[in-house]
Amino acid sequence: MEEEQKNPRLLDIFKLPCAKRVELHYAGARAHLINSSDILRQSSQEQQLYEKYHSAGEPYGPCIYSSKGEHFTEVAPKLKKLVENIKFDLKYFGYMEYAYGLEEHRQIMKTIILRDHQLTDYINTVPIEYHFEVGCFMNSTRLCMYDLGRLIVQECKDRKPYVLSFEPGWDYAGVYESLNMEVLHLPITHKTEFVPDLNEWTKYLDKQKVKHLDLVIINTQHNPTGKQWTSDVVNYLIDLALKYHSYLLIDDAYYCVNDPRIPVVNTVKLWLERLKYIQFKDEMFNRWIQTRPFGKQFNCNAMGVAAVTASPTLMSRLNHIYWDHHYINGCLNAEIMCQWLKDHLHDADEFIVENCLELTRKKKIIREFMEKELGYPSNAICTGPSTSYLLFQAPTVYQQDKEKENKSISDITEDFSNSLFYSTGVMLSGKLFSHSDVSPFVRLHLGSDCDNLEEILRRFKQAGLNYQMKEKFPGEKGLKKNVKINK
Ligand SMILES: Cc1ncc(COP(=O)(O)O)c(C=O)c1O
Repeated sequence: MEEEQKNPRLLDIFKLPCAKRVELHYAGARAHLINSSDILRQSSQEQQLYEKYHSAGEPYGPCIYSSKGEHFTEVAPKLKKLVENIKFDLKYFGYMEYAYGLEEHRQIMKTIILRDHQLTDYINTVPIEYHFEVGCFMNSTRLCMYDLGRLIVQECKDRKPYVLSFEPGWDYAGVYESLNMEVLHLPITHKTEFVPDLNEWTKYLDKQKVKHLDLVIINTQHNPTGKQWTSDVVNYLIDLALKYHSYLLIDDAYYCVNDPRIPVVNTVKLWLERLKYIQFKDEMFNRWIQTRPFGKQFNCNAMGVAAVTASPTLMSRLNHIYWDHHYINGCLNAEIMCQWLKDHLHDADEFIVENCLELTRKKKIIREFMEKELGYPSNAICTGPSTSYLLFQAPTVYQQDKEKENKSISDITEDFSNSLFYSTGVMLSGKLFSHSDVSPFVRLHLGSDCDNLEEILRRFKQAGLNYQMKEKFPGEKGLKKNVKINK
């Protein structure tokens, strides 16, 4: 109790001392990264890194895992409580007939989407043939995006489909290249502080001599930069989708992970307003989809539950396609999320605000520390109002490898983040920008306890991380603790 008063922070609601929460993070990291099979481990770069660090006796302390979206201690406390006490009705234990959820779950999701995206007026004013459906999807939106890709591939018949994505960006390329689709990457660079530059985008598209676009992706609350795109950027992408009659994927993964003091850009509303006034709206009404996973906003990625919004025709086609490859088995997770959104909505809303304010504070503190203590210039760190990530640049000594050793940007960031791991035990998302020569930045996930983040910074400083460090970290040799580097 005394400890809580000294550190009155959001997650003291857990009624656990800070040190305990840091321990819980270590335990979570270990649970996800340990793999006793040499062969199985080959398919996970992070498990391979961990094995080396672990075998060396964890020289800088237990592994801190801040790469993708590791939420071992920060799950919304009242959601956690609900999970601990929930009683499941037996009806939720069967196979799922419908990938887009039970009727009762879909209606709960619909209420949330209408409210969060202010779409009630839309529904009340457009003819019924333009009413959308909201699904309760249970196995990560990646799968639903994949099904959309399969549908597009079928439609394109003899031609390779084109997807318009951006770089850096989430792993849309992983989804669509696996379907043999061609993915184009609009550049977002540190030259414009990771704010999209529409002139650059137009130049890029002209250079590609684009004939077809079959899918345009919009990720307004942008992962990994955390910048929120303006409505001009959103409209630019909508214009392209309309010009090419392409499908439109509105990825709203971080719609509710946004600094609450900054108005959120409501992409789906902008899109539906535009749709009212176009000539071929019947065609385009069946060509858009919005995905909104709830893992990000309540820090429970492992649940994999999302609201998916689309026209009834498109949703029905996607449901048909998913049968080809598997069953969806997440009804229990869907029921937990729906109880949370129906019976505990006030707690859920409160958590979103508190979590986003806390993320904003974390970004500010880390930026200040890196600028003051690690010699980072302001523009070598990227933060924005959205998402739970912060980007920072590889020190200049790593960047020089581009000319000296003709290394690609993604090799530079991988080299830097691996060697930083061997010298600190902090695992970041390194090979993030793998598709083009954009910017040698690595991504730090901020979804762990503040004490854990402080420990990350302490280890960075102790290891000698500095923007202008003269020598690189010693790589695997760093696992022998006493290797000194020339700061
Ligand atoms: C931008 C973006 N879209 C989609 C996803 C997939 O989320 P989920 O697997 O929770 O559906 C992620 C996950 O990190 C993401 O960052």
